[in-house]
Amino acid sequence: MSEIRTQDAEETRDVGRRLGGTLLPGDIVALTGPLGAGKTVFAQGVAESLGVDEPVTSPTFTLICEYEGIMPFYHMDLYRLDTPDEFAWLGVEEMLNGNGVSLLEWSEKAGEELPDRAIHVGIELSYDGGRIITIIRSDGEAA
Ligand SMILES: Nc1ncnc2c1ncn2[C@@H]1O[C@H](COP(=O)(O)OP(=O)(O)OP(=O)(O)O)[C@@H](O)[C@H]1O
Ligand SMILES: [Mg+2]
Repeated sequence: MSEIRTQDAEETRDVGRRLGGTLLPGDIVALTGPLGAGKTVFAQGVAESLGVDEPVTSPTFTLICEYEGIMPFYHMDLYRLDTPDEFAWLGVEEMLNGNGVSLLEWSEKAGEELPDRAIHVGIELSYDGGRIITIIRSDGEAA
């Protein structure tokens, strides 16, 4: 487990870039944190590391956006899901188990449907206006 403090969006994007540089095809990044925490900002950093040129925005209404980089990048936003069943019904197994990286905002909405190998990234608001980012690899190792 590692805990990183960031003072602005660019620093959070940079943490995303650094994690992105370690990701392999099939990896899943599970992002949690309140509204406006910086999940999409973090996702932008991951996407940049994966060679995605297109601007990455929040897929709140579309639920899933697919980008091409050095490997596919699947950006999901589960905010609108009511139950983990709905995640299962999305039919994303092929994406999760494919050759790309999947990143899920509001991953807690997937409940038990989230694969165990997911890398967990929690973003909390700090009292000083910054953010506290905690990264936990599924094997318990610091990211
Ligand atoms: N340290 C920081 N890290 C990330 N974002 C920050 C930080 N400080 C301020 N911000 C601002 O907070 C906002 C984060 O927005 P972002 O869309 O990434 O949040 P989100 O967690 O994806 O929200 P949502 O749950 O609505 O999808 C941005 O406007 C960003 O500029
Ligand atoms: Mg977002």
